[in-house]
Amino acid sequence: MPDTTAPLRLGIAGLGTVGTGIVRMVQNHPEMIAARAGRPIEITAVTARDKDKDRGVDLSGYTWAQDAVSLAQRDDVDVFVELIGGHEGTAKDAFEAALAAGKDVVTANKALLAIHGNELATSAEAQGRVVRFEAAVAGGIPVIKSLTEGLAGNQITRVMGVMNGTCNYILTRMESAGLPYDEVFAEADALGFLEADPNLDVGGIDAGHKLALLSSIAFGTQVDFDGVELEGIGAITIDDIKQAADMGYRIKLLGVAQMTGRGLEQRMSPCLVPALSPLGQLEGGTNMVVLEGDEVGQIVLRGAGAGSGPTASAVMGDVIDIARGLRIPTFGQPATTLRKVRSAQAAVAAPYYMRMQLIDKPGALAKVASILGDAGISIDQMRQYGHEDTSAPVLIVTHKTTRSAIDTATAGFADTGVVTGDPVCIRIETV
Ligand code: HSE
Repeated sequence: MPDTTAPLRLGIAGLGTVGTGIVRMVQNHPEMIAARAGRPIEITAVTARDKDKDRGVDLSGYTWAQDAVSLAQRDDVDVFVELIGGHEGTAKDAFEAALAAGKDVVTANKALLAIHGNELATSAEAQGRVVRFEAAVAGGIPVIKSLTEGLAGNQITRVMGVMNGTCNYILTRMESAGLPYDEVFAEADALGFLEADPNLDVGGIDAGHKLALLSSIAFGTQVDFDGVELEGIGAITIDDIKQAADMGYRIKLLGVAQMTGRGLEQRMSPCLVPALSPLGQLEGGTNMVVLEGDEVGQIVLRGAGAGSGPTASAVMGDVIDIARGLRIPTFGQPATTLRKVRSAQAAVAAPYYMRMQLIDKPGALAKVASILGDAGISIDQMRQYGHEDTSAPVLIVTHKTTRSAIDTATAGFADTGVVTGDPVCIRIETV
């Protein structure tokens, strides 16, 4: 039996904003943390790329390990805190080394778990180890704790979320400042909001990783990142944002996961949501997760999705749970019981917003309407909202239809000779 009164000793790999945030928390409130955890929590060893960098925190009391793998294997480490990031290489090697050495692991690494979560959880549980990852999804929002503990008695019916603060910043700033995407993207870059590979943010990948992790817990299924239908925000124009606002909607990079008769639907894509809904009102870099359960109904969690304090807060919550002796399986139930299910791409019907550029000549609109009709799509609203030389932007809102019908119709537009460029099609989500 592990000694549950001895100090719990942390080894931290990665000393960026999150790692230093944890150091600060442990140093600032040791008594409070010990009282809540039932035992002291200490940092014994740390490592990062650059030993000599001034990080604004006192690391002199800790052993500096040569590398993350040796840190993970140290005898004076009980919990390996992985804050390196990336789904291959050092992070994965050190994670596996920690499990093999009998350590529990706390991580903020969404990519690693979204891609290797099934095997890492299976391996951890076979070895009696705990893996916690609250910080990997929506920063400081305790959404994993909500699903695995508070809502554990519910059948979860739907999970939705705005889980990439950078995208929400870009979309809300485009609207408030009336600026085009490229300009706001450059601003976000200058502010340091973008990941080293910006496509992780604006391509929806980072948020898709997070959705895949939540789906697994919510629906008791194996993590299936490949099953997430991904679409980024790069094609959204200020025109789309204005037209959406005119109709009472806002555009969000929205994740939706739900179990359907045809399989697990997981989508991370731009959606129109009612402007007055909690999701519609979410401004700037904030995150929001909406959980729906058969008994609890709908709950809404809102908070900072990134940053030193919020992410360190999530890591420390996990560490304190381990100190308390709480040993919940990685995805809320034993990894060997997680079901492998089919993925259902956008199985649930919804109205769609379509914007296209039409050549201004007689019969152009009729051709578009006919193709929509042939695809079984009924038009709810249609408007031409300007005029540019020989073509005009046209906006169509459909009645409920499926993504595959929309794709059939847009493929058909290409042969009409009246639609120029690629139409923008955005789902209108009922939230
Ligand atoms: N880049 C993410 C965001 C934070 O903008 O929300 C880390 O997942």
